[in-house]
Amino acid sequence: MSRLVVKNLTKIFTLGFFSKRYVEAVKNVSFEVKEREIVSLVGESGSGKTTTARMILRLLRPTSGTIHFEGTDIWNDLNDKESLKDFRRKVHAVFQDPFASYNPFYPVERTLWQAINLLENTPSNKKEAIELIKESLFRVGLDPKDILGKYPHQISGGQKQRIMIARCWILRPLLIVADEPTSMIDASSRGGIIKLLEELREKEGTSIIFITHDLGLAYYVSDTIYVMKNGEIVERGDPDSVVLNPSHSYTKLLVGSIPKLYRKMEDI
Ligand SMILES: Nc1ncnc2c1ncn2[C@@H]1O[C@H](COP(=O)(O)OP(=O)(O)OP(=O)(O)O)[C@@H](O)[C@H]1O
Ligand SMILES: [Mg+2]
Repeated sequence: MSRLVVKNLTKIFTLGFFSKRYVEAVKNVSFEVKEREIVSLVGESGSGKTTTARMILRLLRPTSGTIHFEGTDIWNDLNDKESLKDFRRKVHAVFQDPFASYNPFYPVERTLWQAINLLENTPSNKKEAIELIKESLFRVGLDPKDILGKYPHQISGGQKQRIMIARCWILRPLLIVADEPTSMIDASSRGGIIKLLEELREKEGTSIIFITHDLGLAYYVSDTIYVMKNGEIVERGDPDSVVLNPSHSYTKLLVGSIPKLYRKMEDI
């Protein structure tokens, strides 16, 4: 059984209260994610990647279609507080815009305390909890003394994204939805963050939905790639077949824009 099954997912936004104008942000999208699988959603800006992610995270109600996580219909069958909490523990987001994920009035470690409170086996005392927080920060390459006690405006975008991944180390979710998780991180440390996600997959069997506009990056990290354009999936397959043998004209365009240095095979 697949861990996540997305079927005929559609989201239509209406613009303005009385207006008849609307945007079909996601159209009839279907895909599955297995245990330990890294699935990439790749596409240009506005292709519907974040909208798809928000529906999977249960932050935005679909117009139609279904999302099953571990066999449960997340929009129709998660009705009580306890099962919702369980869902939040098992499905976790690393967002494109780390600024939107933090409350400016609280120190940044609040987000790690929230993760600890979601744990099934919460640490028995505060000292143990702080140790867990420090360990998770070390894991993502941050020194706790640079982070603890700081407010969101006092740390960088890249540090914020790393803290989101530190949350994953505390929670060990079954599924991580990572929406451009390295957009704020300089190229030299990007590989480190990807490695952290891969390590989670290896050690915990975590499944990952990796969202990016960079097909070159998706080629290296994914087991399966879905290419999105204008809200639709236009191509799907394993990285070699999508990148080395694309069939849709849009995928060919994306392949053409992968910098040469990046390409592993000389014949791409
Ligand atoms: N709340 C909203 N109300 C109206 N339209 C929206 C809303 N959110 C997204 N859209 C529209 O839906 C479409 C898809 O947006 P989405 O954010 O999913 O794209 P994306 O693929 O994540 O792009 P990017 O790579 O720039 O992050 C866009 O046309 C966008 O303008
Ligand atoms: Mg987006």
